[in-house]
Amino acid sequence: LAQCPFRGNRVGGAIGTHPQVNDWWPNRLPVEALHRESPLANPLSDEDYKAAFLSIDFPQLKQDIKKMLTTSQEWWPADYGNYGPQVIRTAWHSAGTYRIADGRGGAAQAMQRFAPINSWWDNGNTDKTRRLLWPIKQQYGAKLSWADLIILAGNCALEIMNFPTFGYGGGRRDAWEPDMSTYWGPEFWEGKPYDQNMAGQTRPGQPEEMVNRGLRWMGGVKEELHDLEAPLAATHQSLIYVNPEGPDGNMDPLDSARDIRESFKRMAMNDEETVALVAGGHAFGKSHGMVNPEKIGAAPEAAPLQAQGFGWHNPVGNGNGKDTMTNGIEGSWTPNPTTWDNTYLQNLLGLEWKQTKSPAGAGQWTPVDPNAPKTPDAHVEGQMNNLMMMTSDIALKEDPAYRKVCEKFLNDFDYFTEAFSKAWYKLTHRDMGPKDRYLGQEVAEEDLMWQDPVPKLDHEPIGASEIASLKRRILDSGLSVPALVSAAWSAASIYRDSDKRGGANGARIALEPQNGWELNRPEELNKVLGTLRGICSDFNSGQSGNMQVTLADLVVLGGCAAVEQAARDGGVEIEVPFTPGRMDTTQELTDEESFDWLKPVSDGFKNYHNDTVGYRVQPERIFLDRAQLLTLSAPEWVALTGGLRVLDQNWDYSRHGVFTDRPGQLTNDFFRTLTSMDYKWEPTDSREMTFQIINRKTGETTYTATRYDLVFGSNAQLRNIAEVYGADDGHERLVKDFVAAWDKVMMLDRYDVKDS
Ligand code: HEM
Repeated sequence: LAQCPFRGNRVGGAIGTHPQVNDWWPNRLPVEALHRESPLANPLSDEDYKAAFLSIDFPQLKQDIKKMLTTSQEWWPADYGNYGPQVIRTAWHSAGTYRIADGRGGAAQAMQRFAPINSWWDNGNTDKTRRLLWPIKQQYGAKLSWADLIILAGNCALEIMNFPTFGYGGGRRDAWEPDMSTYWGPEFWEGKPYDQNMAGQTRPGQPEEMVNRGLRWMGGVKEELHDLEAPLAATHQSLIYVNPEGPDGNMDPLDSARDIRESFKRMAMNDEETVALVAGGHAFGKSHGMVNPEKIGAAPEAAPLQAQGFGWHNPVGNGNGKDTMTNGIEGSWTPNPTTWDNTYLQNLLGLEWKQTKSPAGAGQWTPVDPNAPKTPDAHVEGQMNNLMMMTSDIALKEDPAYRKVCEKFLNDFDYFTEAFSKAWYKLTHRDMGPKDRYLGQEVAEEDLMWQDPVPKLDHEPIGASEIASLKRRILDSGLSVPALVSAAWSAASIYRDSDKRGGANGARIALEPQNGWELNRPEELNKVLGTLRGICSDFNSGQSGNMQVTLADLVVLGGCAAVEQAARDGGVEIEVPFTPGRMDTTQELTDEESFDWLKPVSDGFKNYHNDTVGYRVQPERIFLDRAQLLTLSAPEWVALTGGLRVLDQNWDYSRHGVFTDRPGQLTNDFFRTLTSMDYKWEPTDSREMTFQIINRKTGETTYTATRYDLVFGSNAQLRNIAEVYGADDGHERLVKDFVAAWDKVMMLDRYDVKDS
């Protein structure tokens, strides 16, 4: 008998087999999430994507895509001989996962290629679109990312159907592994709430009491599924937005309108943009619902090996063409599904609609009038079918505010065309960040408010000697080290890598709404800004050439000078890097409502936690989330927090976590206290939000702390890093690491001087 190489009778597990730590302890803080998206996973990490993309013969590429769109393949015959509509839907679904609350989701990394998104029912048959695009991807290889190709193909599709696109910017870098950090909603597969499936169960090795403790943070609340929680933009996990049959399939157009409005708002789309997108999109193509969904095979992630990444096997007929089954609703919205025209709105508003069922059993709407216009079948020559509307389409007609927009678009087709064109550009470029990141010859000239415009550099930035003298001037101005650090940190640290918004460039810290956020210590901040403005105008008026300094640069420079001073006061000489060239933007170029989304709901770096909001998650998880949005590694996160604490950065000047008797000096005192057994730690409130640190010998309370402080001593991964900084040789290392991480954060938004 052959022996098992693992020397057992059978092989029970291999790398990654469950159960794993997160199964046993679902409430542990998954710090390792910070170390995903490693370049080790990227086979193209040595490529200069910008140069590669710009080397493409762009008109030729578009021509190649357009040819592909009208060349039907036998393995997946094109509806009406045109893959355009299918490709538009794929591009829309690629972009449509974006949500403004945390900037996650969106088209920028082609996450649609990976689980869970590749397997959402709503993304049915987008796997076919990507295979149809593969010959193009293959031809252009590393020069063209999947993310760029999917959106460009969407634009080409619109253009071949006579729609004028507003522009196209390349520059999206593909992801190379599933996104494990995005929270997609409380449901488990099949729509069952997570709490019901998982958290209520006791696992081996996990006492019931611990489960309950975790649940307490979830608030024990079971919400209605369509009571959308932050930061989600879909009403249901595995939907891009909303159920086309109405909430829970209830076919109520007004309920549907409510869900559409909420979920499009979460994506920063107003009523006009929403109608433009839905009415614009559904001017093309058709829905597919010919087969009982129970007959359809597993989604790609669960499909058998021989399916080679394809999912949703359809056993009826050829499984495609006239037998295609995607969503379950069947039919087209217009008589000319491959031409841009206004017939969607003409028919939606002009006809009366009644409920009916698709061959797959889905609820949909059909014209009451038997003589209403018909639409040609996508595959059967000569066959004419009834038009179709979804409940989510009827919603646009029944909701009074949406209806107004529909009527405006109906009466002014050019206006509608322009509105859809701009909304499509926003939809597909929304998560790319500053315009500096857009590549190629079709980037729209116009600056758009959702791009958070910052004017282009219009002067010679300061050099080394000016940097040195300005640092001295700032430090001599009487502003304190903590105040200067707070201003710079507040400006830079709202950056989020998910959609590359926020950061110190533009000096929006001096503008509404950021200027007034309570967590930015507004009174002190405005004193700092006042002094820096004075230094700025003094300097600029003393220049004879083109050299200038901006407020944005001075805010960061002030922080750098203060960190150097704090390190020096603590006994370590170090220079903090500074890269000038930031520009100041204006209030007129700031969309306050959209910008307000960048305000952290909770910010562990400043010990800011507004507990009245009703979080379902532990505060430290939100802190981890912020560290991830800042692209910090675990050591960077630890060093920054420990450093900011001794630099007295709490939003309300409280003493929580300020474990030092010499605040304002950059020392490792935070870590020495945290790791010291001279103290014990006791909660001071029932939710275990705040703690006192008691000297074991004297029984006196020496310090106080929050969960945001103590997580660095409690979580094993963080504690091991805290020990490095708390060691006798940890002080200098902390200063060095703090400065490097500080500079990284100050530079996160500098796409004007760095690549990608
Ligand atoms: C098709 C729902 C918004 C573009 C579909 C289908 C559904 C659907 C169920 C049929 C899929 C299939 O079975 O093949 C919705 C809902 C929306 C929405 C509920 C929001 C309320 C949009 C937007 C766009 C768009 C914003 C683009 C701007 C398309 C296109 C198709 C389509 C082009 C046709 C695909 C094809 O012919 O293969 N939509 N959609 N949709 N949707 Fe939407």
